[in-house]
Formats: sequence, structure tokens, C-alpha cells
Amino acid sequence: MRRKIVAGNWKMNLDPAGADALFAGIQNMDVADGVELMVFPPSIYIDRLVKAGGVKIGAQDGYIADYGAFTGEVSMSQLKAIGASAVLVGHSERREYFNEDNDTVRLKTEAALNHGLEPIFCCGEPLEIREAGTYLQYVHHQLECSLFRLPLGEFVKTIIAYEPIWAIGTGLTATTTQAEEMHKAIRSWIRETYNDLAAAEYPILYGGSCNPSNAAALFACPNVDGGLIGGASLKESDFAVLAAPATWNTLN
Ligand code: PGA
Repeated sequence: MRRKIVAGNWKMNLDPAGADALFAGIQNMDVADGVELMVFPPSIYIDRLVKAGGVKIGAQDGYIADYGAFTGEVSMSQLKAIGASAVLVGHSERREYFNEDNDTVRLKTEAALNHGLEPIFCCGEPLEIREAGTYLQYVHHQLECSLFRLPLGEFVKTIIAYEPIWAIGTGLTATTTQAEEMHKAIRSWIRETYNDLAAAEYPILYGGSCNPSNAAALFACPNVDGGLIGGASLKESDFAVLAAPATWNTLN
């Protein structure tokens, strides 16, 4: 039985009062049996949300080095010390706006694991690659250059989020056919790189304009184990639908 996860990526949104109010709503949500909720707030709110309790809190990024002269950065060890339990690595906005390449993403994944943080490794192709038809090769390359370098014992502590860049924040969602094709391919690469058991038990999340009207169909795809949610995680009523038993009851 694979883990099922609904993770909210708040990105650089909300003031402290707004973060507290949204989180209070999340703490009281009716969550489908067996589904884990996770929240990735701006890092300045991690401490207060960890103290508020009840939901796993992660960071949206973390630096490779533990301490030192890296103005503006926050390290994985510092995030762990204030109670974060997970961290996003390689989100396409980090790759695009902050020039994170596959090597950086690999080092961040390793740093997260070294400090006991669960990395959610984000991958996904831009629109021109989707249109050129080479999206499977593109995502395979992203995984080979970083995540698949991990030994099995470390790899199984990670989670993949497939987030096609053309679907992030655009209102364009991958169809269930498109999502399932990629998720199935990712699982087959895990099988080839590691083994059957790792592939069978590994959670792969979908991200990109996932919302109350498309979530049930996406989460019902055989190889989709939940979602990494941006925009819809900022609206309590939308996020509640994604977590709700009714959205997941098509699962067997
Ligand atoms: P979106 O963002 O749901 O707003 O498309 C997803 C993400 O970037 O993780």
C-alpha cells in the first residue's frame, strides 16, 4: 500500500495572520482515511506552524551547506532544528528564477537526507518540450542526473512530484492520460534503476493546476499518489475538497 499525500505549497504568499487562519482551517479538515496532509509555508512561518501542530510542515527550499557565510540562505540543518520534516527540492520556480541546475538539486536532495528531512523532488518539462514530444526523455534525464544517483536506502526516503511547467499556475492541467503516462514511466524507471519493491511502494505526486474539479480524476489514476498543490492550497475550501474522503473514494 503506497502512501497517499496532499501537500500544499504556499509559495511566497500570506501574511502571518493569514497563515495562522489558513492553517487553523487545515488542522480541522476532514481528511480521507490514509491520506497525509503536508504544508510548505514560507520558511519564516515554519516555526509557528510546527508549534501549532497537527500537520506535517516542510520548507520550500533549503541550502546545501549547514552553516556559514551564505547571506539570505537557510540550511537544511536549521530547518530540521525548528521542526520541519520535509523540503521541496528542484521546484521549477527555483530552477527557472534562481538558476538551480540538476547538480544543485542533487546536492540539496543529499543535504536534506543528511539531516533527516524528507525531500519532495520536483521534476517536469516546459511547454516546448511537451510540444516537441520529448517530455519522457526530458524528465528521465532530470531524474538520472540527481535523484537516481542516490543509493536505494536513501532513494526510498524521497518522494517525486511530477509538475509539468506548462500546468503550474496556468489553469492548464495535464489530462489524466498525460499524467498517468508520465507517472507510469517514472515508476518503470524506478524499477529499472532500483527494483520492483521500490517501484511498487514509491509515492509519485502530480502538481500543476490541481483543483477541486480535476483532483478526483487525477488521484484515481493508478500511478498518481496525490498532489503538490499551489494555488488551490491557499484557499481553505479548495484544499479541503482535495483532502476530503469524497475526492479519494474512487481509490481502491
Ligand atoms: P499550482 O502550483 O497548483 O498553482 O499550479 C503547483 C506547484 O507549483 O507546486
